[in-house]
Amino acid sequence: MNRRNFLVHFVRLFFAGLFAAVCSVIFYIFPSTGRPKSIRYFYLMEEDDLPRKGVRKIDFEYSGEDRTMASRVYLSASDSGLIAFSAVCTHLGCFINWDHNKKEFLCPCHGGRYNAKGRVTAGPPPAPLTELPLEIKDGKVYIGMKI
Ligand code: FES
Repeated sequence: MNRRNFLVHFVRLFFAGLFAAVCSVIFYIFPSTGRPKSIRYFYLMEEDDLPRKGVRKIDFEYSGEDRTMASRVYLSASDSGLIAFSAVCTHLGCFINWDHNKKEFLCPCHGGRYNAKGRVTAGPPPAPLTELPLEIKDGKVYIGMKI
């Protein structure tokens, strides 16, 4: 290999490495989300069992395309209406718990706190709890999940 061929190979390798590094940075900043998620509704409970006041935890299962998943939601009922929240903390994804005495959601992982409307009151969570849509049909309550 003469000097000219060595330089040509070196320049090609340099630009190939540079291209790979730029692609890695782009994929890191804008990760692929795969196919877009759509909201599907799953049976949650009978309408008569909905809480009229206070917060209730509900564990349920729902089926995706190829598997059954377990999930947990909270229903928060007040004079201003009923709200359904995902029980997943918006910081790093731990399950939150409702503290009946303090009247707030507490995250056991890093001390995140949310009020009964799901808004952050303390700690590191960057966003309020995720509200989930509810639909009532023929006396049955369905909850919308993005899958
Ligand atoms: S995961 Fe909830 S505060 Fe960090």
